[in-house]
Amino acid sequence: MLYRRHILNIEDLSVQDLGFILSVADRIAENPESYGEICKGKILATLFFEPSTRTRLSFESAMLRMGGRVLGFSEASTSSTAKGETPEDTARMIAGYADVVAVRHPTALVPHRMSAVSEVPLINGGDGSNEHPTQTLTDLVTIHRRFGSLENLTIGLCGDLKHGRTVHSLIKAMKLYPGTRFVLIAPDALEMPKEFLDSLDVAGIPYRLTDNLEASMPELDILYMTRIQRERFQNPTEYRKLKGVYVLDADKMAMAKKEMIVMHPLPRVDEIATDVDADPRAFYFEQAKCGVLARMALIIGVLGLENRMGEGLSVHTSANGRELAI
Ligand code: NCD
Repeated sequence: MLYRRHILNIEDLSVQDLGFILSVADRIAENPESYGEICKGKILATLFFEPSTRTRLSFESAMLRMGGRVLGFSEASTSSTAKGETPEDTARMIAGYADVVAVRHPTALVPHRMSAVSEVPLINGGDGSNEHPTQTLTDLVTIHRRFGSLENLTIGLCGDLKHGRTVHSLIKAMKLYPGTRFVLIAPDALEMPKEFLDSLDVAGIPYRLTDNLEASMPELDILYMTRIQRERFQNPTEYRKLKGVYVLDADKMAMAKKEMIVMHPLPRVDEIATDVDADPRAFYFEQAKCGVLARMALIIGVLGLENRMGEGLSVHTSANGRELAI
């Protein structure tokens, strides 16, 4: 299924593939000690040409927790890129050093170019404003563990919907699940790009565009907050105008459903006040934890190690409880 595949866009994954990840993540969460050796002898390389805390460390933690080893770099200045090496040459070379590679790059589609010459599975850890498929796997694992299903959820995406790659990938994944509805909360200048709205139209997924967070609170099952992506702005004055446009605080939380959850890929800047952290509906740190489970499941999949997981692994074909044994 996932064996030896490059994971570049969330759309590369079918509902069955996503179900495999959810199922494996659940199995690991129930019994983490059983998987402490499953990647013994395997090496993960993390090639991060752009800053990251969670994505890189959660990839590394995932591999280490499964008994594998990791190598890599966390900024382009410490790699041969600084000497002019092309990403393709880096990818060709690293296949001799590692069994699976995670790449983050500030320019869209560079991981895709690298995958074309990579002999080992290459996972996109975020490419420019384009996509962030493993954040979406993290998000799906979080939602599934909280609600027990990925169906019939009204999801508010709030903040920088123009540049935020996490929300771009999340939209593409959630449109696969029946009953999804989006409320897209952003000022005009940061609206979701048209191509994503078009894809919702094609999939028949209802959505509403608004700039009003407060008024949207009562209808949401999930509020997915995002940071204004300063590094993607050409003009710093534009960023300063939009900075602080949304701040979720305890007063706004009072308008939300009791069982709603707040998600955020992190890092947060000022868009969630710290007075929300103690609210049991604040799920962003739990979400960061689920990132390790999601990446453990993905690594198991692309290395084809699920046969080492023992008997009875089942896969959710959809979130409605139907399962397909493998
Ligand atoms: C996100 C990213 O890098 O796109 N962070 C992450 O991977 N958890 C979100 C962000 O930087 O705002």
